[in-house]
Amino acid sequence: MYIGVDYYPEHWPRARWATDARLMRKAGFTVVRLAEFNWVNMEPSEGVYDFSLLDEALALLAKHGISAILCTPTAIMPAWLARAYPATLATQRDGTRLTWGVRKNNCFSNGTYRLLSKRITRAMARYFADTPNVIGWQTDNEFGHPFCHCATCRAAFQEWLRGRHGTLDEFNRAWGTHFWGQRIQEWAEITIPDDAGSHNPSACLDWQRFFSWLNVRFQHDQVRILRDLCPRHFITHNFMGLFKELDYYALARDLDFVSWDNYPVWGAPEIRYDAALAADVMRGLKRRNFWIMEQTAGPCGWGVFSRNVRPGELRNIAWQQCAHGADGMVWFRWRTCTAGREQYWHGLLGHDGRPLRRYKEAAQTAREMHALAPLLDGTTVAADVAIVYDYDSLWALRIQPGFAENDYQKAIGRYYRALFRAGVNVDIVPRDADLSRYKLVLAPALHVLPDDAADRLVRYVRAGGILLVDCRTAVKDGTNLCHPRTLPGLLTPALGIAIEEYDAVPGTMNCAVQGTPAFPGTFTAVHYTDWVRPRGATQLAGYTDWHIRKYAALTRHACGTGAGWYLGAVIKEDAFYDQLVRQLLDDACVTALLRPPAGVELCVRRGARHELIFLVNHTEEPQTVAVPAGLRDALRNRACAGRVTLERYGVVVLWRARRSPVAKSKRAKEQTAPNGRTC
Ligand code: GAL
Repeated sequence: MYIGVDYYPEHWPRARWATDARLMRKAGFTVVRLAEFNWVNMEPSEGVYDFSLLDEALALLAKHGISAILCTPTAIMPAWLARAYPATLATQRDGTRLTWGVRKNNCFSNGTYRLLSKRITRAMARYFADTPNVIGWQTDNEFGHPFCHCATCRAAFQEWLRGRHGTLDEFNRAWGTHFWGQRIQEWAEITIPDDAGSHNPSACLDWQRFFSWLNVRFQHDQVRILRDLCPRHFITHNFMGLFKELDYYALARDLDFVSWDNYPVWGAPEIRYDAALAADVMRGLKRRNFWIMEQTAGPCGWGVFSRNVRPGELRNIAWQQCAHGADGMVWFRWRTCTAGREQYWHGLLGHDGRPLRRYKEAAQTAREMHALAPLLDGTTVAADVAIVYDYDSLWALRIQPGFAENDYQKAIGRYYRALFRAGVNVDIVPRDADLSRYKLVLAPALHVLPDDAADRLVRYVRAGGILLVDCRTAVKDGTNLCHPRTLPGLLTPALGIAIEEYDAVPGTMNCAVQGTPAFPGTFTAVHYTDWVRPRGATQLAGYTDWHIRKYAALTRHACGTGAGWYLGAVIKEDAFYDQLVRQLLDDACVTALLRPPAGVELCVRRGARHELIFLVNHTEEPQTVAVPAGLRDALRNRACAGRVTLERYGVVVLWRARRSPVAKSKRAKEQTAPNGRTC
């Protein structure tokens, strides 16, 4: 397990470096990330390279047994570059260029910038290929900005569209240009759509895809060089969790593993649902464990700073990620910088460089993680439940939310949080994933649903899967045109319903939802209602307002050996989603190992022979959890007697050997859902 910090030796006098390295080693750190924004020092003028600073730092770190990940420094161009090649700076919508001086300011289609980025990557790769303590690379930094509107980008967009759509006829069909007389007769006529909400939705979706592709291509330029010159090194990138601008599946494809930057301290202390979801999204990108490349080390901020981590919280934040599959932990940053925009983005050490509380807590966490490393090795989260996470749907719903308040990640979050509370782990998967290994699949707000994806979902249900879909699913085809079908379109056989009409429910209104005996309770629909007519499905909840009394809000339909559930409303109460998720889990014969108390997270990492059960207390109160017999407390290395107590922000990791596969399959055969369905 690699544990360490993001280190910027160029920010400190050389005389301090040895103290830093010694303190790092004392804390149990084994890795640093270096060189992220250091292009100007490595290439002080075009084609002149100087790696002496990095060389010296690496040699010193090596003496202390510390390895390094090097970054390609292309997230900020040197001043000489911007001056010599002004067109490398991104152009804003109003036609003005970004001013040099911030990071992330380059145009990704500019040929000169691509060339210079490849040159510095090649020079670094050649120079450091055999440096013994260099173990890997991070490409650039947090891809995703800026959007550029220059003439080169426009021409590249036209070219990309030609490649995607082939002919102008096909292009015009895909964009629906018969509307508002938008027919295009030459590729050169195509403009970059604006983001103000009045341009063609198909154009907006393709522009977003194009921007994502530009970033992926830019990274690919670097990856090819690194693979060629540094075959022993891994290549990763620091993603941003729930960031919305890029197709992260595509960005991850070229890499060995995904890393991400986790800063969950912006608001008041809370249950860290979003950090959990982001971790699962990150694990889902390549279906493998990931690293944290920037982990919260203190208050964060550029102008104003966030709250400080409470005692125990820094450790809690790190263990939560480990529980979700993090195999590397790198805190951002080592020492708080005294200069520049990030003076208030605090590191483990303050401005004064003294190793105080946060340093000590990170050192404790590092010690624990190293001790657990042999047990963590070869384990990952093994989920029976998947949530489909789809960038096309995310983007299409941003372009046209349909109803106010509609947000893709919030839609996913309603179910994710209920599963979290139920103590059930989740895999996040793309729209085209093989779903056969999952007992339950949730595909909320899967707005863009091409026919082949719909067919796959129907086949999944027929073959015994339990599927949940909800509002605004299957509305759009792959080019962001509305399917000319009664909703839920091709999903109808799996869901057994017809959506006759639908309604946006303004903020001042809501609709009462009444459950049936099979789904008891009274709830409140907000923002939106589908007027659902069961066509074979069983109604589990309906509306009571006069104008929609005859319609269903929640249905279940038996199809093949599985079942398709449909929720046609956004429900205000968390209790509704808790009940729904409980019923879905029952229907799919998924049982949690235990029911954690409110605010305690349960995560299980499984290997071939054993499993690790993580209990993470997100509250500021101690919590007691009843646990099955036969577990060992892996951090304290002692047997655990029926219950564990977690201090505030406390973390406990339990260990047990896995049952033999034969015993498991016998048990599996006996399973029947409470509603009588054989699983
Ligand atoms: C991240 C970035 C780091 C650092 C940090 C604090 O987004 O990757 O380099 O800038 O934010 O601003």
